[in-house]
Amino acid sequence: MNGPDPSGYAPDWLALREPADAEARSAELAAVVRDRLAARAPGPLLVRDLGAGTGAMARWLAGRLPGPQHWVLYDRDPALLARAAAAAPPQADGGAAVGVEVREADLAALGAPDLAGAGLVTASALLDLLTGEEVAGLAGACAGAGCAALITLSVAGRVELDPADPLDAEVRAAFNAHQRRAVGGRRPLGPDAPGAAARAFRERGAEVLLRPSPWRLGPDRPELLRTWLHGWVAAAVEQTPGLAVAAAPYLARRTAQSESGLLHAAVHHTDLLALPPEPP
Ligand SMILES: C[S@@+](CC[C@H](N)C(=O)[O-])C[C@H]1O[C@@H](n2cnc3c(N)ncnc32)[C@H](O)[C@@H]1O
Repeated sequence: MNGPDPSGYAPDWLALREPADAEARSAELAAVVRDRLAARAPGPLLVRDLGAGTGAMARWLAGRLPGPQHWVLYDRDPALLARAAAAAPPQADGGAAVGVEVREADLAALGAPDLAGAGLVTASALLDLLTGEEVAGLAGACAGAGCAALITLSVAGRVELDPADPLDAEVRAAFNAHQRRAVGGRRPLGPDAPGAAARAFRERGAEVLLRPSPWRLGPDRPELLRTWLHGWVAAAVEQTPGLAVAAAPYLARRTAQSESGLLHAAVHHTDLLALPPEPP
């Protein structure tokens, strides 16, 4: 649940989801990136991580890539970047040094010159927050800079709950509409983002690979399941106030099932890897 959140992202929420995010991201796509980057010119790999938050993507990916790396973490939230800067730097596979620097920036204005020198652009739990224009701008900036892009954990708009409940479909539809709602004149793509990004990168000559990256939530992650469930239902009710009467007993039912260890949720995401054409 990335969800547009004009008030910012609580560090506690990012910390709570980090282990589930790490398990969900496609290790297969990380391995493809690793192979592709093996052929690049020697020297430290420059990675630009967009919407980096507290630096979770670097903590997940740096150790899957060999050799020295320098990560530049971009976010508009200085408090999250301060946490990223204070965290222990990640280690590359093989133990090489990984440098981390943070930059406060709004990605809406991102262009190819901002990505200059990057071997890889990454983003995690960001894409669905962007508008169609911003996604096209991102694909254009990556194509202009000639770099690969690994964009993980974009919401796919599908949630499966076990056991099923008659209200699931209505809550899901309202939540998806909430993700696409205009906020401050911007209309994020929400669950339409992975498809739009795949088209935008392909139109600019990239090879695009898509892989599922679902959260699997159950009794082993009770706090994340409970927090996600409350946020999911609250967003649905905010979008469709008429749901409120039915949503209260629904949430009580789901919470009771979760507390008894009976509730399982698959929250679907998509990971995308865009590879620029190989030089002849
Ligand atoms: C769901 S959080 C994900 C953070 C991190 N990538 C992770 O996986 O833990 C989304 C992040 O994107 C940042 N963000 C969203 N829109 C942005 C924009 N237009 N410019 C800069 N940062 C943005 C938010 O501040 C937030 O840190």
